[in-house]
Amino acid sequence: PLRLGVLTGGGDCPGLNALIRGLVKRGSHEFGHEFVGIENGYMGLVEPNLTRPLSEADTRGILPKGGTILGTSNKADPFIYPVKENGQWVEKDLSDQVLRRAEELKLDGLIAIGGDGTLTIGHMLSKKGLRVVGCPKTIDNDLSGTDQTFGFDTARGICTEAIDRLHSTAESHDRVMVVEIMGRNAGFLTLDSGIAGGADVILIPEIPYRVEPIVEKIRRRATRKRSFSIIAIAEGAYPVGGTLAVVEKAHEIPGRGVVRLGGAGKVCADLLASHIEAEIRVTVLGHLQRGGTPSAADRVLATLYGCKVLDLVRDGQWDHMVALRNGKIVTASLSESRKERRVDPTGETVRFAKSMGISFGD
Ligand code: F6P
Repeated sequence: PLRLGVLTGGGDCPGLNALIRGLVKRGSHEFGHEFVGIENGYMGLVEPNLTRPLSEADTRGILPKGGTILGTSNKADPFIYPVKENGQWVEKDLSDQVLRRAEELKLDGLIAIGGDGTLTIGHMLSKKGLRVVGCPKTIDNDLSGTDQTFGFDTARGICTEAIDRLHSTAESHDRVMVVEIMGRNAGFLTLDSGIAGGADVILIPEIPYRVEPIVEKIRRRATRKRSFSIIAIAEGAYPVGGTLAVVEKAHEIPGRGVVRLGGAGKVCADLLASHIEAEIRVTVLGHLQRGGTPSAADRVLATLYGCKVLDLVRDGQWDHMVALRNGKIVTASLSESRKERRVDPTGETVRFAKSMGISFGD
């Protein structure tokens, strides 16, 4: 039996606890492994006193819970770790400290659950000699090396329900509803929930939009006595000639860096306002999309990931991660997660959506 550290890094997503539970249950039952919970992502391997026991008893009742019982952080990259020196914040490479800490904790290996950033750090630590296996997660579904990430299905369901709810109020008031959906630089969530929720316009980062086709779509609907419209827009979508910076600037919180959420919807609404008479309202779904109980599909995928990761540990497949390919849980190199996946603008989903009359603003 081994002693394994477990951490969750990056933004949380529904299904993390299901994964932790699956991992600890199989690990204890079948292999007799011992688990050490590392709190707040890699921060727990840099700072002292951020570990906790992670026995089967500690995972009781967590399956339907959103978030992560281990806590997470997306500002804890040990290779560029913020440290205060002479009153100033500077970034330091503390990766050697992580290796030492893992030794002190007597870890035989580390299970890193996270998105792009967390898995990349895992790969870099592997190269320095730490034994790491990874589990991909993100609601954005933008990780290469795996067909689908858990968290995505739940978020897609939440967005779809939100669009459904916006429909009835949009129709009652004859309004144009702009609903902004997460996804970082990828449009998967917006595309799927836009289709599932029956959006009239879908705007994604992969297809910079023009305002004219959107206006035309809204007008065409009005001539068919559909005087309301739903525009599903990804947080990273921007107009032709613009860049992501335009969207980010629109919702800056002074002194806190760039917080992109809220920008894309506002930029789009402002552009539309000078072209159409109808009232426009913007809804930013924000972190609602990441919270709450995971869907059944995400619970299953996450649980299977948690179980599968122990095969990698058993087989000494360090520097690898679990992945979903063609409906099967397989293994992939950790370095494969480093490429960002995007919606294919010429792919079948976009083509069929367009063929039904959904506008992508292009
Ligand atoms: O990657 C997940 C995600 O929710 C993105 O969709 C979004 O851009 C980002 O995280 C939001 O990050 P934060 O929680 O730090 O505001």
